[in-house]
Amino acid sequence: MQNEKIIYSDEDHKCIVFSFDNEEVNESFLAVNQYLIVHKNSAILIDPGSEAVYDEVYDAVCKYIDIKNLQYIFYSHQDPDVAGSIAKWSVSCGAKQIVSKQWVRFMSHYGLMNFNRIIPLDDKGATIHFGEHYLQFIPAHFLHSPGNFSLYDSYSKTLFSGDIGASITFEYGARAEDVKFEDIKDSLEGFHKRYMAGNRFCKAWVKEVRKYDIETMAPQHGSTLKGDNYRQFLSWFENLECGGDLIESIY
Ligand SMILES: [Fe+2]
Ligand SMILES: [Fe+2]
Repeated sequence: MQNEKIIYSDEDHKCIVFSFDNEEVNESFLAVNQYLIVHKNSAILIDPGSEAVYDEVYDAVCKYIDIKNLQYIFYSHQDPDVAGSIAKWSVSCGAKQIVSKQWVRFMSHYGLMNFNRIIPLDDKGATIHFGEHYLQFIPAHFLHSPGNFSLYDSYSKTLFSGDIGASITFEYGARAEDVKFEDIKDSLEGFHKRYMAGNRFCKAWVKEVRKYDIETMAPQHGSTLKGDNYRQFLSWFENLECGGDLIESIY
C-alpha cells in the first residue's frame, strides 16, 4: 500500500515522502521511500524506485505537480529499488536524470536507451541551484554502492541519505512519527554492518555531512530521523565496524 507524508512544508517549498509496502507479502517485499521536493514551480524526484512501484509513484507525483515541471530525477545509486524504473521515467517526462558517472552505462540494462538527459555526477559531487537555494550532491561512495551520493536540500535542511540510515523493518516507513534513534538502532545494525563497505567510508561521510546545517535525515528505507536523533545516528555510524572490517566473519 502507499503511505504519504509531508515532511517539510511552507508556502514555497514542500518535501513529501511516498512509502510503499505490501502487508500481504511483507516477508518478501522490501518497503521503500520515494521523495519529492517541490519548490514553487519546479520539482525533483529522489530515488523513484523499481518498475513494481512506478505506476503508483507516477500518480503520487502528479498529485503535487504538473509532470512537465518535474525538472530532475536523482538516483542515489544503481540498485533496482532505486533506479529500476529509469527507462519508464525517461519516456513519461522530460526531467534530467542525475546519477553517478560510475553507473551511467549500466542503466542500459534497465532498458534506458536515450542518454541525452542524463547528468553524470563526478565523484566529488556537485551543486545545483534550485530556486534561490541549492541542492548539494554529497559523496557517499561505498555506502553501500561504489558510486553513491546523498542529497542535501538547503531550503528544508533535509539530507536525503539513500541507503545510509535505512532501517529494514516493516513497522516503520512514512507512517512512523518522530522515531527515536534508540528505538531503531537494532534494526539499523544488521543492514549497515553487512551492506556498508567499511568504517573509513562511514567516517569520511560523517565528516562531510557535519559541514551542513541538517535538521532531518530522510533515508530510502524506514523512518526519518530529526535533530538529536540524527546526531546520535552520526555518532553511531562514524564508529561502526562494518563490511571489510568484519571480513573474518564471512570468509
Ligand atoms: Fe542499495
Ligand atoms: Fe535501498
